[in-house]
Amino acid sequence: MRNIRTLPIDRITVAPSLLAADFGKLNAEIKRVTEAGADLLHLDIMDGHFVPNLTIGPPVLKSLRPVSNLIFDTHLMLSEPLKYAPVFIENGADHITFHLEADNDPAEVIRAIKAAGATAGISVKPGTPVETVYPYLDDLDLVLIMTVEPGFGGQSFMADLMPKITALRREIRRRQLRIHIEADGGIGAATVETVARAGGNMIVAGTSVFRHPESAAQGIAELHAASKFL
Ligand code: DX5
Ligand code: ZN
Repeated sequence: MRNIRTLPIDRITVAPSLLAADFGKLNAEIKRVTEAGADLLHLDIMDGHFVPNLTIGPPVLKSLRPVSNLIFDTHLMLSEPLKYAPVFIENGADHITFHLEADNDPAEVIRAIKAAGATAGISVKPGTPVETVYPYLDDLDLVLIMTVEPGFGGQSFMADLMPKITALRREIRRRQLRIHIEADGGIGAATVETVARAGGNMIVAGTSVFRHPESAAQGIAELHAASKFL
């Protein structure tokens, strides 16, 4: 069953971001990170409007679905999640994370995601206070804290955002919820400890996995090793 609820929250799970893969051979790239120990696959969807970049759309997910059993962790960086979340789910997304800063009513988007059979997450950009997510927490499976400005891979990790993760972890504990805290942007061996110590349990990693100087397996192992700091 491909569902993020089946993944542990008490150790580090790793979602390699396909954005850093070689787009000329996506099948082989997905196989490579699957064999290297990926827990799920992160797909960055950008519309050239919510963020100044364009990536992949529903037909690409549809073509990749039969080649992989990994959970498709789909990160919608687009302005109209209400319109597009169901389309991505129809085409193979198992989980949808949309941005709180997008144009639609978050409660309505969560309902649409669940009605279409996927799990739901909300993401916040670096400048958005984490407390803005709290009204929706009871209905979420995941919160994604951006540790770079969304739009591009390969940027530098913003360590000053860790208090957002700490506060969110505290609020989730207080309410006794089971929600993944995912962090995305600039995370690798040198920065993962900081995220884990703050309470982030799910790591998105593009550059540090797909472009690891030794191997993707080594990149994933270095991230998993931070479980001891959680
Ligand atoms: C940025 C994306 C990230 C990005 C991460 O907008 O949401 O998922 O691909 O890439 P790295 O790990 O290279 O920062
Ligand atoms: Zn992402």
